[in-house]
Amino acid sequence: MSREKEIAKIAEFFGEGWFEEIVQQEPSIAALPFEEQLKAVKQRSVHWGTSFFRDDVVLGVLERMVLADLPPDKTTHIASIGCSEGREPFSVLIQRWGRRDKLNIDAYDCNPKNIGIAKRGIYRIEFDSLEYGRFQRSAAHAEVNGILKTNLNGRLEINFSEDAKQKISFCVADITEGPLSRRYDAVLMLNVLFYYSQNGINRILNNVRQSLNAGGWLLCETGYDWPVFGNYAKWMRNPSGFENQEQLARKLVPNIGESQVPLVYRAK
Ligand SMILES: C[S@@+](CC[C@H](N)C(=O)[O-])C[C@H]1O[C@@H](n2cnc3c(N)ncnc32)[C@H](O)[C@@H]1O
Repeated sequence: MSREKEIAKIAEFFGEGWFEEIVQQEPSIAALPFEEQLKAVKQRSVHWGTSFFRDDVVLGVLERMVLADLPPDKTTHIASIGCSEGREPFSVLIQRWGRRDKLNIDAYDCNPKNIGIAKRGIYRIEFDSLEYGRFQRSAAHAEVNGILKTNLNGRLEINFSEDAKQKISFCVADITEGPLSRRYDAVLMLNVLFYYSQNGINRILNNVRQSLNAGGWLLCETGYDWPVFGNYAKWMRNPSGFENQEQLARKLVPNIGESQVPLVYRAK
């Protein structure tokens, strides 16, 4: 693709002038060959940060709305798009460990480094972190369940067993480029969309829609109806091709706070 087309693509996804702004701000990027500049700008556009059991509202929605709605004898196919280093799909696997034979998880990220780390299935968590508390609370039962936990100088090391790793298929894919290679009952896409421009969001949602079975679920991160996030609760209220399931989520999932906004949708 030509230089102009590549820059136009970045403008479509992240906003007009974004490429030039990043390159100007960082002279070290300006000095790179164009292909490297593109990679550096993309890496600075979307953060990779993640943690185990990051969003307990979404995990509640998955249990009480999505999985409760599907026949228990059928295998459920879930995709995690923008899975980063894999902590999100591994959290889902831990939560569903007892019924893992009826669960199939495919996890995607556009950054090959993240997928490489995810495939190794080895993580370290600092004892004094928020993540440590969440992990201990939600995965206390996990010792017997395919996870080896070791205490290492102020950190917890987590090693997923081969059995656990085989339950998740990690794959490099960029959801701006097209639908996934199969259809899913549910897609988790947490903390990905808000980095993108409206054009980018529309393109991604269209590709996600085509990656879902009829009536399939899209779960995004939990938003907050606080003034500082003024637009947050509104930007995903009515995405085209989906029905907003916020009200049903408020009825069925007990742990949703008043100021929290579950971003839960069903494909039309
Ligand atoms: C902030 S992290 C969120 C990780 C995880 N979902 C969570 O909520 O903790 C965003 C991730 O989305 C990935 N990502 C961004 N755009 C993407 C795209 N177009 N296709 C696939 N992955 C993407 C990034 O590489 C990054 O790892």
